[in-house]
Amino acid sequence: MDYEHIQTTLDGKTSENKFLSLLKGVKSFSESLDALDHIDWDFSGFTTQYLTHKFHSYPARFIPQIPLSFIRLFTKPNDSILDPFCGCGTSLVEAFLHERNSIGNDFNPLAALISKVKVTLVPQKELKYLQKKVKTIDKMEISPTEIDHISERLPSRKISSIFSESVIYELSKIKEMIQSLRENHRDIFDIGRIALSSTIWSIVENNGVKDIGNLFRKRIDMIMEELRSMDRLVSSPPDCLILSGDARKLEVPDDVVKLVITSPPYVNALDYYRIHMYNMFWLDMDFGLFRKHEIGAHSHYVANRFRLLTEYLADMLRAMIEMNRVMKIEGICAIVVGNSSLEYELIESYKHFSSFAPEIGFKIQKTIYRNIDTKRKYTSTDIGNIDDEYILVLQKKSSCPIPSTDNEFVTQIVSKEMEKFQKQVNSVQGTSITGRKPTKERLRENIERIAEAITHLPKDIKMKK
Ligand SMILES: C[S@@+](CC[C@H](N)C(=O)[O-])C[C@H]1O[C@@H](n2cnc3c(N)ncnc32)[C@H](O)[C@@H]1O
Repeated sequence: MDYEHIQTTLDGKTSENKFLSLLKGVKSFSESLDALDHIDWDFSGFTTQYLTHKFHSYPARFIPQIPLSFIRLFTKPNDSILDPFCGCGTSLVEAFLHERNSIGNDFNPLAALISKVKVTLVPQKELKYLQKKVKTIDKMEISPTEIDHISERLPSRKISSIFSESVIYELSKIKEMIQSLRENHRDIFDIGRIALSSTIWSIVENNGVKDIGNLFRKRIDMIMEELRSMDRLVSSPPDCLILSGDARKLEVPDDVVKLVITSPPYVNALDYYRIHMYNMFWLDMDFGLFRKHEIGAHSHYVANRFRLLTEYLADMLRAMIEMNRVMKIEGICAIVVGNSSLEYELIESYKHFSSFAPEIGFKIQKTIYRNIDTKRKYTSTDIGNIDDEYILVLQKKSSCPIPSTDNEFVTQIVSKEMEKFQKQVNSVQGTSITGRKPTKERLRENIERIAEAITHLPKDIKMKK
């Protein structure tokens, strides 16, 4: 189906039309590569919340026009695309709308659930049944003991006080209704869980909401309406496989994917396990395992942040080896990543990934720079004032003979990167100072910390069991 047909919600702005016409009629590989130079990657003012993209907030998601561009330019219907860090499934939704098969992977169980619901069409009969069930919420009975039990188990954080007895009561009634669908109505059970999770997100973000039941019903209505629209638009729904696994060890066969499009975590930027703690709590999801294996997370190596950098680089090298393994030869791998900051030092992740690429069978085709609109909810304020990101466009030229689990190889490549970084910091310190200036001595300590991180590298880069 034609994109212009699909995007009925795009409101025909000139910039959007210009973008769409750029993608049209591109035939050869070299024309597709050229087209990348003519796209205005800032996508300023573009419509981004359409169809199932609306279902659930997700920090640092990318805007749909990025995966859309790569899908249109580098794949044909029935090709397969992969997003190994799929988050809330932005690239999977675009693959679905363009009738491409897709594989989405994310270690965050909430991300996997949101992604699944966004790309699963549900029969009308089931949606009507869900509507009927939603009307029974007020009849659900919750005992004071159940409320106490939930209250006792809430995470020990200040923010838990939002979940007063009456909030727990309202949420428990909704959960009880959803539970009744678990056995025989899996798809609408999952829709219910996403609507509940999105309601909890609003409660946490807004420090409480007035009418929880009403907010939940509105979420359900919106999800059903968008799924119906999607059903009308996509005539042959493609296959979509969602995995909740580790991007460093993908459960995907070799040489099956035509395009990888992904935005991996940034170092030191966001801890998704922490952000989604309450959602996962209410959905009975275990966030312990995800916390341990989350890439780039704050909770690792608190005493020396440069040890977190070595761990991050090793994790990302392993993830890139896996991307290479599952891709077909000549396929495109587009990695969207921004800079971050560690102890006042600028971390240019795209430069590190660029150094990895030729070592593992990729050719660098292009590096695209884009501004991010920080007012939109697509970025994290945690990474400071940095408001730009890069799209690294790689092409698989050969299969990497080394598996992602090879610690010796990972140590060798990451050591080289860390030594380059050390040289840079030795000559200039404080490349990413925002706000109050640290003392010169404080900055000089970074030199020692980096040296320490290099010493610990062979141990720190090992994957946790
Ligand atoms: C920047 S977000 C991706 C957002 C996504 N592009 C979207 O539009 O929603 C990075 C994702 O990496 C996931 N992640 C972190 N560590 C991971 C790991 N070891 N394996 C797989 N996914 C991981 C996080 O849960 C998060 O969803």
